[in-house]
Amino acid sequence: MIFCALLAGCDKNPTVIDDSPSAPAPVATAPLPEMLSGYHFQSADTQALQDDQFANPGMLWVDRGEELWTTAPQTGKPACAGCHNDAATDMAGVAAHFPKYNKSLDTVVNLEGQINHCRVEHQQSSPLVYESDDLLALSAYVGYQSNGLPIEVAIDGPAAPAFAAGQAYFYTRRGQLNLACNHCHEDNVGRMLRGDKLSQGQAGGYPAYRLEWQSIGSLHRRLRFCNVGVRAEPFAFGATQYIELELYLKWRAQGLPVETPAVRR
Ligand code: HEC
Ligand code: HEC
Repeated sequence: MIFCALLAGCDKNPTVIDDSPSAPAPVATAPLPEMLSGYHFQSADTQALQDDQFANPGMLWVDRGEELWTTAPQTGKPACAGCHNDAATDMAGVAAHFPKYNKSLDTVVNLEGQINHCRVEHQQSSPLVYESDDLLALSAYVGYQSNGLPIEVAIDGPAAPAFAAGQAYFYTRRGQLNLACNHCHEDNVGRMLRGDKLSQGQAGGYPAYRLEWQSIGSLHRRLRFCNVGVRAEPFAFGATQYIELELYLKWRAQGLPVETPAVRR
């Protein structure tokens, strides 16, 4: 299949994609010889915006998250800070290890899921709606405390089935365009697609501020766009399939720094 309808300049240098199912990458080492964050593929202006703490629009959510961190719920239970103290020390590095297996839930959760677990279990409050400003703010705030630290997730033991499912998803063709994640984010890295330069699809910058959204958005919001881009039905925010995929993506990004909140086109 030739993947020309989508890629700019493709007629000059067509990319032919082998129609046989792509073999999953071996598990022992990361699949890409050179790891590059999405930052690398952004314009100098967008990179500068991400680098400048005062200009980075994603910092508005981080600031809001800091407020929420110290606000006690109306249930009489402690604020996040009441149990976890100072986020700058107690949450440093924490986001770099998510998604991870949560014993009391007996399942793999991402950071948003962990925060909602604390809301329900430890604050007797209702879970925050996925993609609500408050959940984005708290996940951006907790994520920010890991900024610059290397991503490292556990994929063994009880996390192994989720990892295997996420990896299989990554290499499975879907949608009317019949493309898998790797067709864009491994085979066509650096090429232009509808005004975007295709990156490796690394997940370390989320929640990220996207200029096109005029908002910060979760990784799942990005994944939904990638699904719709190949005309596949997206899953709901927080769906198990996306959490499994997120685990695979974080494993694939191992060693890259967390860069929440990243800024993207
Ligand atoms: C038709 C091409 C295409 C396919 C297939 C595709 N994506 Fe994307 N994806 C994009 C484009 C375009 C962007 C925005 C520019 C970029 O970072 O590559 C993007 C961005 C991303 C990002 C954000 C990178 C960053 O640094 O902000 C992630 C993560 C991602 N994709 C994961 C996936 C996953 C997982 C799949 C499979 C379910 C997938 N993509 C399938 C086109 C695609
Ligand atoms: C009453 C105490 C309590 C409150 C309040 C609380 N948590 Fe927790 N939190 C815990 C406990 C206990 C754990 C570990 C076990 C678990 O997941 O239940 C935890 C785990 C976490 C973790 C994972 C830590 C790691 O190292 O993996 C994060 C992130 C987190 N909480 C965020 C929050 C946020 C954000 C809030 C406020 C919305 C909050 N917590 C409120 C008790 C609390």
